[in-house]
Amino acid sequence: MKVLVVGGGGREHALVWKLAQSPRVSRVFAAPGNAGTDGLATNVAVGAEDVDGLLAFARAEGVDLTVVGPEAPLVLGIADRFRDAGLRVFGPTAAAARLEGSKAFCKRIMEKYGVPTAAYQEFDDPAAAKAYIRQRGAPLVVKADGLAAGKGVTVARTVAEAEAAVDEAMVGRVFGDAGARVVVEEFLDGEEASFLAFCDGRTFLPMASSQDHKPVYDGDRGPNTGGMGAYSPAPVVTPELFRRASEEVIRPVVDGMAAEGCPYVGVLYAGLMIKDGRIKVLEFNCRFGDPECQPIVLRMKGDLVPVLEACIDGRLDAVSLEWDPRAAVCVVMASEGYPGSYPKGVEIHGLDTAAGREDVVVFHAGTRRDGGRVVTSGGRVLGVTALGSGVEEAIRRAYGAVGDIRWPGAHHRTDIGRKALDRLAR
Ligand code: AMP
Ligand code: GLY
Repeated sequence: MKVLVVGGGGREHALVWKLAQSPRVSRVFAAPGNAGTDGLATNVAVGAEDVDGLLAFARAEGVDLTVVGPEAPLVLGIADRFRDAGLRVFGPTAAAARLEGSKAFCKRIMEKYGVPTAAYQEFDDPAAAKAYIRQRGAPLVVKADGLAAGKGVTVARTVAEAEAAVDEAMVGRVFGDAGARVVVEEFLDGEEASFLAFCDGRTFLPMASSQDHKPVYDGDRGPNTGGMGAYSPAPVVTPELFRRASEEVIRPVVDGMAAEGCPYVGVLYAGLMIKDGRIKVLEFNCRFGDPECQPIVLRMKGDLVPVLEACIDGRLDAVSLEWDPRAAVCVVMASEGYPGSYPKGVEIHGLDTAAGREDVVVFHAGTRRDGGRVVTSGGRVLGVTALGSGVEEAIRRAYGAVGDIRWPGAHHRTDIGRKALDRLAR
């Protein structure tokens, strides 16, 4: 079968890498892909949000299965368009993707179906939002309702900061229409974890747990990024919390979305905040996490295609997943200046040496080929991912490979996985 992976980040390279191993797959396309997918897949020069272009390509090429990586095309309705055209696609409809596309919708669903989350109010009027902020007091979290490329959330330590975030979103419109409405919610402290599940509209199959590292610097300091590294499994998600996240978070959402008339088919990603055995949901995403997908896929045994097909066909109860018991760690290497502005076109050295190491896969994100060279083309450039008998060995292997790779201005966190080590040492 021919498979098309939509997107060009580290998550999509990981999906291409996994799908290319399937005995069922004869050909993989990546749109637009990156230097890492090039070779494993055929890169197609169509952007991930060009739904018309993707549909035309899939039709012309006779693509049998399309797997959508990022949220933007899902929120735009790529799954609906492909389905209407009689094409098989893995990912939620636009109505179901509202769980990520609208924070207010997400909060309403959680409230209605009893999913534990922070107390909140939604506002269309900046004066009302600010009055609520003054009444509640800091700390508070202000969230632009719509998609804001991961930048729409402000964790405000003071009332002034929270009010400024309201002005930025609602008055300054720095996130465009995504900030016309805001959600103001209670600040939660604890340790975050990512909990992803395959869903077929009726039932679900949880994946191994994982944890992202959002702030740019060691010790969780500095501004948030798309994610500077991830590992799986996450020891903060104990077997008991795993069971509770399945039953108290994923199940009510899958049932609730079906009851709302928009059954959820695809990957449902719950961002959890865990403290003293208490789980609260920070957000839902309508897709695999990036970079969580990289360590998860490295640990996933067997063929991914039957699982995706079972989701599409509503028979997920007939499949199962096995996980490599080893740990996987992904360290993101980023461009100078990221998450602010950064240069592009900088040549990367040492990729082959790193990729030649045992149990290491160098997933590309913001890279492209330039003649015989591989150069940077984004903020997050590489996700250097390794398996190890435990998280300590996986960390050592991943950082060993990171040490092989060089380009001017490259930076990475040096403490990916440390929370897991700390927890295991307790
Ligand atoms: P979100 O996109 O909603 O997950 O928010 C992005 C990041 O902001 C999360 O990963 C958390 O680190 C932080 N965050 C979001 N909501 C809260 C909250 N209620 N309390 C504390 N931190 C939060
Ligand atoms: N790594 C966070 C996300 O994918 O949203």
